[in-house]
Amino acid sequence: MSDALLTLCSSGKMQPIRDLVAKVAATNTTILLRGESGVGKEVVGRAIHKASPRAAKQFLKVNCAALPSELLESELFGHEKGAFTGAYRQKPGKFEAAHQGTLLLDEIGEMPLRLQAKLLHVLQDGEFSRVGGEKIIDTDVRLIAATNRDLEASMRAHQFREDLYYRLNVIEIRIPPLRERRDEIPVLADHFLKKFNAQYGRSVEIPGETLRAFLDYEWPGNIRELENAVKRVVVLGSARPVHVEIVANLARGGRSTPRPGTAALEVRPSSDTPISLKDIARQAAREAERVAIKEVLDRVHWNRAKAARLLQISYKALLYKIVQCGLVVQDTEKDDKPKEVMAS
Ligand SMILES: Nc1ncnc2c1ncn2[C@@H]1O[C@H](COP(=O)(O)OP(=O)(O)O)[C@@H](O)[C@H]1O
Ligand SMILES: [Mg+2]
Repeated sequence: MSDALLTLCSSGKMQPIRDLVAKVAATNTTILLRGESGVGKEVVGRAIHKASPRAAKQFLKVNCAALPSELLESELFGHEKGAFTGAYRQKPGKFEAAHQGTLLLDEIGEMPLRLQAKLLHVLQDGEFSRVGGEKIIDTDVRLIAATNRDLEASMRAHQFREDLYYRLNVIEIRIPPLRERRDEIPVLADHFLKKFNAQYGRSVEIPGETLRAFLDYEWPGNIRELENAVKRVVVLGSARPVHVEIVANLARGGRSTPRPGTAALEVRPSSDTPISLKDIARQAAREAERVAIKEVLDRVHWNRAKAARLLQISYKALLYKIVQCGLVVQDTEKDDKPKEVMAS
């Protein structure tokens, strides 16, 4: 059983999910994982793979929201040499690479309709051909789909195929948000603390008062947000900045994503939570910085050299601030992109 799954076991709310994982792992059924971003859909997907007879083969993930339609098609099904501009050589897709393994299609709700049709065909017939190719390729892949979208609404809006919906939704696993399973927070925080202390060679601790603030907080970014918070505690060598931010968030009603530009004005101590004026000022300054840095990074598609120039700080200073502000590079999808296409 994977490390993450052990942590996953700790909450009563997760018990039925753990049971379901054990039950469905041995079968070949398609699984639909649902839940807010950061709740652990991918972790559950991996756990299913690990507990399945396919464990020795590949587990691969494709984020359907990360690529435009043509690239996504090539990513999934591969392409033949010359299939499109930039296709300098033949490239197998993830369906081929995951043969006899498991393929997780993340953010399935974002898949373009044309590809939904192709995916349905693959699921029904177990075969496909590469982009620009004729050859029929057989595939034996266990499919797991994940989404934080209201697929039923997408279906009513004709953005998601009904037949594909029913084909995918054989077994549905709904993962509750972290705020509905707060008893997991201490266990998870401890898990991440150990992990990052080991990773950075530190021995930072989380004070009891910070842990209590963690327990009260809403965690709209779920486990991913908690993980980043603990990472910042370890990197900064102190829980103070994270604590101040969380307390300030609680003081303004638990909302975690302040409207840009208004953050500083909204930091207000409540009657029963002590927080110094100095801390409020520092927190507001950091919040303003965080919003500005995030905006610039998004604008330049996370080209950090470019962002540093625009923000008129050194590249190194920006990297530090990215960590300090808990802005983590979005996943590793970049590495998955077909190389020759990226070069073109
Ligand atoms: N039960 C868990 N134990 C430890 N880490 C977890 C657990 N669930 C999620 N995580 C971590 O939280 C982050 C978000 O999880 P992920 O599976 O990517 O969420 P989602 O796919 O729902 O957005 C990841 O870094 C993951 O490792
Ligand atoms: Mg995810």
